[in-house]
Parts: sequence; structure tokens; C-alpha cells
Amino acid sequence: QKNDLLSGKRVLISAGGTRERIDPVRFIGNRSSGKMGIALAVAAASAGAEVTLVVGQISVELPVHPQIKIIKIESTNELLNTVMTEFTQTDILIMAAAVADFEPEMIADQKIKKAADNDEFVLKLKKTPDILKSVGAIKKHQLIIGFAAETQELNKNAQAKLVSKHADMIIANNVVTDGIGFESNDNQVTIFESQQDPKPLTKMSKMQLANQLVELIAKKLGD
Ligand code: C5P
Repeated sequence: QKNDLLSGKRVLISAGGTRERIDPVRFIGNRSSGKMGIALAVAAASAGAEVTLVVGQISVELPVHPQIKIIKIESTNELLNTVMTEFTQTDILIMAAAVADFEPEMIADQKIKKAADNDEFVLKLKKTPDILKSVGAIKKHQLIIGFAAETQELNKNAQAKLVSKHADMIIANNVVTDGIGFESNDNQVTIFESQQDPKPLTKMSKMQLANQLVELIAKKLGD
């Protein structure tokens, strides 16, 4: 869907899942495929934007597009550093990445061995930095858009995230319904913006949704 809704705009998009290292061979990851963030990158580029796509672990091909620059990251901390660096040269940030909430308190230098005399292994985790909150603190003209994957109390949690994450828009998807959300090609979301009623969208492909979101974002920029 080629148009000029975002022509001249710089869009920073994160996609995929983060990996938090446990030791040289193990990590904590999640089921994110990267499809939604990649669809958004393609939709934004097709709308004339200069896109920087920051990708973690994904299960699909990376897009090849003259207006999409790709930066690869692994952990939440790497994603934070990249987003903080790129943010000042950005007009719109879309955090579609599934970011870990916790990371191992320590990364073991050597592969952790099984001990013959112990049936348990306790892994201590600490909170990861909240990227949206960090950029919220240095936000100037930028539009900040976050995703919320919720399994319960979708509306209440999404509304709260608008405030706590300094976001202009939260796109909430219910990840418990089959055939939408994680790994799937389709998605069904509700859009939350402050001072506005939640906008539930119908179920559609992630590419169609990305195009609709670009339209909504372009409209918000114009406001
Ligand atoms: O807090 P929660 O993970 O539910 O919020 C989801 C939104 O916040 C997503 O847009 C995600 O990319 C972003 N996020 C973040 N930093 C984190 C965790 C999530 O920016 N540490």
C-alpha cells in the first residue's frame, strides 16, 4: 500500500523477542515472531518514512527495502542502548518488540553444569530496564507507541500503560485467543489513546493492521 502519509518522517521500530543470557549456551527468550513489527516497518516505509528497524530474535525473514535500515540486538539492555541512541533522531517510536521483564542477575562465564547431588537449580532474576519509560523521560516532539500483550484485564492494564510508559498510543492485543497474536499471521487489537474511548479493530492480517496503524499514526501526527 504505497502512499505518502509518513513522507519525510523518521520512524524507529523494535521487533521480535529479546534474549537474556544465562550462560554461554543458554538464554531466556519468548515466543515473539517479529511479524507485527516487521509489518509495521514495511507499512511505514511504503508510506514514505525513513525506518530504522531494531530486531531481536525473529522467526521470519527480514524485510529488504531501501527505506528500512536494520540494527540487530540480542538483550533488553542492548535494545535500550540502541533505542536511546536513535531516539533523538526519531519522530515516531513504535515498540513492537516483546521485551523480557526479567534477566538473570548474573551471566555465568562457563556453561552451568548439572550437579550429581542436586535436583534443583535456582536462577535468580532481576528486573530489566523499562525502555519506554526511559525514552519517555527524554521525550520531546516524538510520538511514542507501545504494545501491550495481556492475558487478563486488557482494558485496565492498557489504560494504565498509557500513563506509566508516557505513551501516546497503546495497541493492546489479547494473546490468549487462538489464531491471533503470537506467531500468528492475524491479529486483533484495541487502540488506547488518552482522552479517547478504546477503539477495538476487527481481526485482520498483521500487514493490513500495520497499514491501518500507519493511517492512525499519521492522523495523530497531524493533530
Ligand atoms: O510492560 P509491558 O511489557 O507489558 O509493556 C509492553 C510495552 O512496553 C511494549 O511496547 C514493549 O515493547 C515495551 N517494553 C519496554 N521495556 C521493557 C518491557 C516492555 O519498553 N522492559
